[in-house]
Amino acid sequence: MTKTVVIVMAMEAEAKPFVEHLQLKKDETIFLKGFKAECYAGSLDTTKVYLILNGKCHKYNVDIVGTVGGAVTTFAAIQALHPDVIINAGTCGGFKAMGGEVGSIYLCTRFLNHDRRIAIPGFDAFGVGELKTVDLNQGLLDHVGAKNGVVSTGNSLDMVKEDEHYIKLHKATCKDMEGAAVAYICDQLGVPMFALKSVTDIVDGEHPTPEEFLKNLGTAAKCLQEALPKVLSYISQNSFEA
Ligand code: ADE
Repeated sequence: MTKTVVIVMAMEAEAKPFVEHLQLKKDETIFLKGFKAECYAGSLDTTKVYLILNGKCHKYNVDIVGTVGGAVTTFAAIQALHPDVIINAGTCGGFKAMGGEVGSIYLCTRFLNHDRRIAIPGFDAFGVGELKTVDLNQGLLDHVGAKNGVVSTGNSLDMVKEDEHYIKLHKATCKDMEGAAVAYICDQLGVPMFALKSVTDIVDGEHPTPEEFLKNLGTAAKCLQEALPKVLSYISQNSFEA
């Protein structure tokens, strides 16, 4: 059966090698006029592939990174494309304390927010918003050569000690800026979802994050370009769920 897979990504530089590799074509017809998200469409084997970027901010003209972009893009893509599965792909910070290295690839099905501290009963748990999406087939992890990871999401590239508390508590392996937002919309609308993350920087390492991120962005994007087709070819023939 033909599957429809939507890949949600935040940064053009993360997506470019994959768009070129699969020769995906821009489709300007699917989103509301004025909405900045971009759609690139194509196929791999029998799978319909849509790569959706959050697009460039209408005010600051940079990629719309963060949870607002991740959530609205995911919502619009589900409404327009009715995917069988959503993959949030992108770069992340890794942790040497969790065995992470620059270039490590993770497949993730657990998500939380580390910067939504609301110390009011009920809202505290909503703030952290811990979420488990699907149970991934071990065959998929093996096929991709990925580790099983946990994504912790926040709207800052740096990490303050309050963020670190939640990240350590939940044994997160990947620090990003969109994953939990994409997972939340998928969970609400009943769309299976997982994340594919490539490490650009080591959060608990000795290098300043912005420099390490920019230095390794190209390599991480190449890792995503190599890993994504493996994910797609596996799930076109097998169930991604255990
Ligand atoms: N994306 C890549 N590296 C990151 C980091 N350290 N924090 C948040 N998002 C990231």
